[in-house]
Amino acid sequence: MKPLHLSEAQTGDDRQREIWAIGSGKGGTGKSFVTTSVALSLVKLGKKVILVDADLGCANLHTCLGMHPVSQSLSDFMSGRVASLADVLVPTPYPGLKLISGAHDMLDIANPTHSRKSALMKALDELEFDYLLLDLGAGTAFNTLDFFLAAHKAILVVVPEPTAIENAYRFIKSVYFRYMRAVSKELKLRQLVEEAMDPKNQRGVHSVHDLIEVLAAADPAVGRRLREDINAMRVRLVVNQVRTVDDLTLGFAMRSSVEKYFGIRMDYSGYVEYDDVVWKAARAHQTVMHEYPYSSPARCVDRLTRNLMTNQQIELESVVTNR
Ligand SMILES: Nc1ncnc2c1ncn2[C@@H]1O[C@H](COP(=O)(O)OP(=O)(O)OP(=O)(O)O)[C@@H](O)[C@H]1O
Ligand SMILES: [Mg+2]
Repeated sequence: MKPLHLSEAQTGDDRQREIWAIGSGKGGTGKSFVTTSVALSLVKLGKKVILVDADLGCANLHTCLGMHPVSQSLSDFMSGRVASLADVLVPTPYPGLKLISGAHDMLDIANPTHSRKSALMKALDELEFDYLLLDLGAGTAFNTLDFFLAAHKAILVVVPEPTAIENAYRFIKSVYFRYMRAVSKELKLRQLVEEAMDPKNQRGVHSVHDLIEVLAAADPAVGRRLREDINAMRVRLVVNQVRTVDDLTLGFAMRSSVEKYFGIRMDYSGYVEYDDVVWKAARAHQTVMHEYPYSSPARCVDRLTRNLMTNQQIELESVVTNR
């Protein structure tokens, strides 16, 4: 898997054929809800969208779309039971939106090899879509980080709770360290990265910036390349389950902290308000975007989707006046 797309994503505005990966440090932040809703928002704009349930251990996107479990799934492709990913692509009740359901028998595929993952990314890229959205499992498993890095846009969902925020920072750091490990081909450099991944490491490496310095001292050419790549990379942050103005300003605070302490850039792409319509729709096997299109979460998702398409961020002034 070539973990470079994250930086390539900076060039286009509303570029067609993009793969977006949605992850979070902690479970239950609303990744699946946000992914499904953004997909429906894109469909409303006339885009052809594929949703992929890439939570290899705990797939449930079909439920978020109000669908029954789907018999064909990613595991049929990963285990070689079907030759083509197109064979596991199923229509949804929403024209323009197709689904690749997550693996059921996760034992064969919860831990795919590097070459299986690369083959999957390549096969995904060959499907017909304008936007392909990957709903990832929570946490910092290497699989999750690899899919996150392989996407054109990497979207991190956080909720305004201390554990979720803490895990989000850990997630960001793990993504960058994983990237640096992939770029550090030489064994000596790789060992330095692996050592630094231990939070109690003896070298005092705590931030992305620290690790670049260590690698640059060992190999200046690698250090130069990493500085360039990392300057161009950015994670896009979404704050979900916002109840107060303080909740939504979390995104601005996290953006500044990441820049200050890790030495990296992050976009605050949008927030989604907390609202009871989300569980009401889920219980009725409906979607918020269709049943409650004028609700605050649906309007927030539409705004978030536009920002993600056009690489815009939200600004504090517009947030306060739009509420
Ligand atoms: N904006 C919101 N307002 C109200 N409830 C929400 C909102 N977003 C998510 N929820 C609720 O939070 C719960 C978790 O959402 P969801 O399943 O999308 O999270 P997840 O991050 O995909 O979880 P997992 O890590 O288990 O895959 C669900 O019950 C959902 O209805
Ligand atoms: Mg989920």
